[in-house]
Amino acid sequence: MGNYDNMIILGIETSCDETAAAVVKDGTSILSSVVSSQVEVHHLYGGVVPELASRKHIESIVPVVDQAINKAGLPLTEIDAVAVTRGPGLVGALLVGFSFAKSLAYALGIPWVGVNHLEGHINSVFLEDDPPAFPFVALLASGGHTSIYHVTDPMTLELMGQTRDDAAGEAFDKVAKVLDLGYPGGGIVDRLAKQGDPSRIKFPRSYLDKASFDFSFSGIKTAVNRYAAGHRDQIQEHIPDIAAGFQEAVMEVLTYKAIHAAVVKGSKRLALVGGVAANSRLREMLRAEAGRQGMRVHIPSIDLCGDNAAMIAAAGYHYLAAGIVADLQDDVFSKAK
Ligand code: KG4
Ligand code: ZN
Repeated sequence: MGNYDNMIILGIETSCDETAAAVVKDGTSILSSVVSSQVEVHHLYGGVVPELASRKHIESIVPVVDQAINKAGLPLTEIDAVAVTRGPGLVGALLVGFSFAKSLAYALGIPWVGVNHLEGHINSVFLEDDPPAFPFVALLASGGHTSIYHVTDPMTLELMGQTRDDAAGEAFDKVAKVLDLGYPGGGIVDRLAKQGDPSRIKFPRSYLDKASFDFSFSGIKTAVNRYAAGHRDQIQEHIPDIAAGFQEAVMEVLTYKAIHAAVVKGSKRLALVGGVAANSRLREMLRAEAGRQGMRVHIPSIDLCGDNAAMIAAAGYHYLAAGIVADLQDDVFSKAK
């Protein structure tokens, strides 16, 4: 491939309920990053409705990409390549960004590449100052995934463990739904937990086998359901303690397993990525425990934890630099390269 110094990539992300576009230089410097959330469309239903998500992406993709290009202060002709989320995600939603990226790249006569969304989240740490050196251990906790990886280069993730049922963010969303707090639940529970006492209600910690890096969050969700059903009459006054107790239990398990994975790999570097990485208690707990173990933790700023297109451009940079490009036959069902 050509010379990738100063390469300017347009990133596009439409895997779930955010339409996002970003312009990133050299896989590390954000020139612009625009995220248009669909929360208002989905919150009525307490979760993402796939058909509505696709329709909203179709409406938003052109204005969002336009805004990203304008904010970057560059003409479209300065874009060297396009990187777009290929999956995993909602197929109809992915298809909107993917088809748009393919058409735009074709029209501009520039290369483009389909990127794995999870590699995107991992690469979000390279958009911050002082990124981790390879190899490092990464905990990815989002609405769709909760996994621990040993990351040996930007495109090589060794899966060490993952959730066997709900993702951590999904558990937050479901608990918020049961307590009638709104959607998405993560930020709401995080805020309410600050007013509660995490030790008043003790929810179960599901470690499974302590040597395993797998997770399970369906048990704690059921425990919260049961507690809420048993305290219907005074639920309002219990909510901050439920939020704090639930959050503490989930974060203790995430922190324990992430630290343990780094110990097993002999790594002093940990990354925390994905929507749940925005959680104030998790950021604090992981930093404190890593500090005790002499490890460094790399956590992106809040804007880069949730879905965004800058992380897709950052991951795409490494594909393109390695000579990996997509062709017109590729679509969201194509096998990962
Ligand atoms: O990475 P992301 O934006 O989308 C996926 O790839 O899934 O993650 C969204 C998830 C949602 O489940 C949301 O409730 C959760 O991240 N989340 C949080 C917080 N902010 C967002 N969970 C816990 N605490 C937060 N502060
Ligand atoms: Zn995500």
